[in-house]
Amino acid sequence: MCGIIGYIGPEEPVSLVLEALSRLEYRGYDSAGVAYFDREAKVDVVRASGKLSNLAALCQGRAGLPGPAIGHIRWATHGAPTEENAHPHRSGPIVVVHNGIIENDRELRKSLSSEGFSFSSETDTEVVAHLVHRHYRTTGSLPEAVRLALREIAGSYALAVLCEERPGELVGVRRGAPLLLGEGENAYFLASDVPAFLKWTRKMMPLPPDVIAAIGPDGLALLPVDGSPPLVPLFEEVPWDPVAAEKGHYRHFMEKEIFEGPRAIMDTLEGRIAPGHGRVMLSELARLGPSPPELVFVACGTSYHAALLGRQFIESLSDIPVRVEIASEFRYRPLRIRKGAWVVGITQSGETADTLGALDHARREGYLTLAVTNVPGSSITREASATLLTRAGPEIGVASTKAFVAQITAVWLLALHLARRTALREEEGSKKALEILLKSPARLEGFLGALDLGTIDGLAEKVAASRFVIFIGRGLDYPLAIEGALKLKEITYRPADGYPGGELKHGPIALIEPGVLVVAPLVDPDLSAKEWSNIREVEARGGTVLTIASPETAPVLPAYPLPATEGWEGVFFATAILQLLSYRTAVLMGNDVDQPRNLAKSVTVE
Ligand code: F6R
Repeated sequence: MCGIIGYIGPEEPVSLVLEALSRLEYRGYDSAGVAYFDREAKVDVVRASGKLSNLAALCQGRAGLPGPAIGHIRWATHGAPTEENAHPHRSGPIVVVHNGIIENDRELRKSLSSEGFSFSSETDTEVVAHLVHRHYRTTGSLPEAVRLALREIAGSYALAVLCEERPGELVGVRRGAPLLLGEGENAYFLASDVPAFLKWTRKMMPLPPDVIAAIGPDGLALLPVDGSPPLVPLFEEVPWDPVAAEKGHYRHFMEKEIFEGPRAIMDTLEGRIAPGHGRVMLSELARLGPSPPELVFVACGTSYHAALLGRQFIESLSDIPVRVEIASEFRYRPLRIRKGAWVVGITQSGETADTLGALDHARREGYLTLAVTNVPGSSITREASATLLTRAGPEIGVASTKAFVAQITAVWLLALHLARRTALREEEGSKKALEILLKSPARLEGFLGALDLGTIDGLAEKVAASRFVIFIGRGLDYPLAIEGALKLKEITYRPADGYPGGELKHGPIALIEPGVLVVAPLVDPDLSAKEWSNIREVEARGGTVLTIASPETAPVLPAYPLPATEGWEGVFFATAILQLLSYRTAVLMGNDVDQPRNLAKSVTVE
C-alpha cells in the first residue's frame, strides 16, 4: 500500500528511482513521483497521476546529479489520485515521500495553516513536509527536524526525506509501516520492500520503528527518536535471487509465479525434514515449546484460505482443535481461547495491518504467536514469538499465487510437526502425508509441464461469457473454491462467489439460471462423492458446471482432468488450474493482470 524509495549514491538517480519504483508498482498505481537534484543542484519534483509509465514519460531526458533522490508510488487513501495529491510533497527546501496514514492530519493542518503554511494537496503527507520544514528552520539539522516533527504526528508512517539545502543527506524513519535499508557500493537505499533494490544489493536490514536512519557524508547513523544512544547497523544477506523479481520470458508476473509453484514448495521444504528420519523438524518453533492445547489461525484474503486448509491438515493428523479467524474481525473481539493456545498469523507480505493487529491483540493477552510469512525481516517477523518462513521468493503479481502454494506447504509441514508431538498421532497417516508432500514439487512440475492450455482457454471463454460464477467445494475443496472465486474477482472483475457445496441448497441455488456458471474443484478424496450430489442438483436445474477432478474423484469426464492423485496432493494441482483459469480469463478480457484496479499487494491500512 504505497511504495517508497530513497537513494543516495553514485548512480544517476532519476533512472535508478524509476527502475526501483517499477519493482514496487504492485503496491499501488494511482500516481507516482520522484524528487532529485538537477544539474543546477536544485531539487526537481516530477509527479504524474496514474501508472508509473506516465511518470517515466515525463522524466524522459531528465537526469540528476549523483546524490539523494526519493520516489513514491501511491495507493490513494487521503485525496483523489490526482497529480496534486501525488508524492513527493514539498515545503520550502524539504521534500517528503510517505507510506502510511497520519491520524491527526486535520488538527495539524489547522494549526499549520494558522501559522501561514499553505496546502496544495488533500493528502495527510503534506503536514509532514510542513512540520519538518518548520523544525528545520529553527534547528538547521535534517535528522533533528524529522525527530521533532515526529513528536507531533500520530499514526503510521514510513518516510524518506531530503532537503534542498543538504545535498549530501537523506533521512528515513518508520512506525507501523515497513521501511528497509539497503547497503550498496558507496550507496544506501531506503525502500518499502526488498525487490526495489535487489538489482543493486542484497544487503538489507529492516529499520526498527522510531529510529531515524540519517545518511550523510559520514555514512549511516541510526538515531533512536527518544534520544537513546545510536544503534549499530546490522545488515544481512537476503536469500533472494535478483532475477526472481524479473518477468523473464513470461507475459505477466502472475503467469511466471504460477509456474514457480513447484519451486516454492521445494524451497519451503528445504532443510525442514530430518535427514534419514523421515520426520518434519521445524526448529523455528522450538521457542513455542510443546504442542498447544488449541491453535488459532488469523489471516486475510488468500492467506485466510491457506489457513482453512491448515485447519483440515492439523485436525486430521493430531488432536489439536484449530480455529480460523479473519484477522480484521478477530482483533476487535475479546479473546476466548484456551490458555497456552498458539495464535498463528499467515501473511505473504508480513505487513498486513489487520493480521499484525490480530497478533498483537493475542500477544498482549500473553499468548504465544507464530508468524507464517514469505518476507524475511517483515514487520510480523519482529513482532511474533516465532517465525516460519515460506520461501516462495518475491511475489510481484498483485494476485497471490506461488505464495499461496508455499503457504499450503507450510501449514502441511506444521500439521506434520504437530502430529509427531501428540499422543493421538497416527504414525502411518503422518508418514504417508509426508511422503506425498515430498513428492509434490516434482509431481506439480510434471503436471504444469504437460498442461492442456487449449482446454483451459476453452474454459476461460465460458467464464468470460458468464454473468456470475459460483465456486463450490466440500472439505479440502471448500478453501480452494473460495480462493478460486477470489482470484477470479480480483483480476477479471467478474462477479463470483464461493460456497461450501452443501450450502448451495440453503439459498445460493436460487441463483442458478442460464448465464451463471458453477466451477467445482474435486480433490478431497473423502467428500467428492457428496460434492457430486451437489453438482447434480445444479445440473438438474439447468446449470452448467465445470469440474476439475482426477479419475478417482470423477465418475464422468471432468471439464479439466487431473492425474490420479494421492492424499492431499490434488490441492496443488487444482490450485494451479484455478489460478490459470482466472489468469487466462483476465488475459482474454484484456485486463491488466498484474495490477488489477483498486488493489495493492501489501495492505498496510485497516
Ligand atoms: C489475493 C491476495 C490478498 C492477500 C491479502 C492478505 O490474491 O493477494 O487477498 O492474500 O491481502 O495479504 P498478506 O498475505 O500479505 O497478509
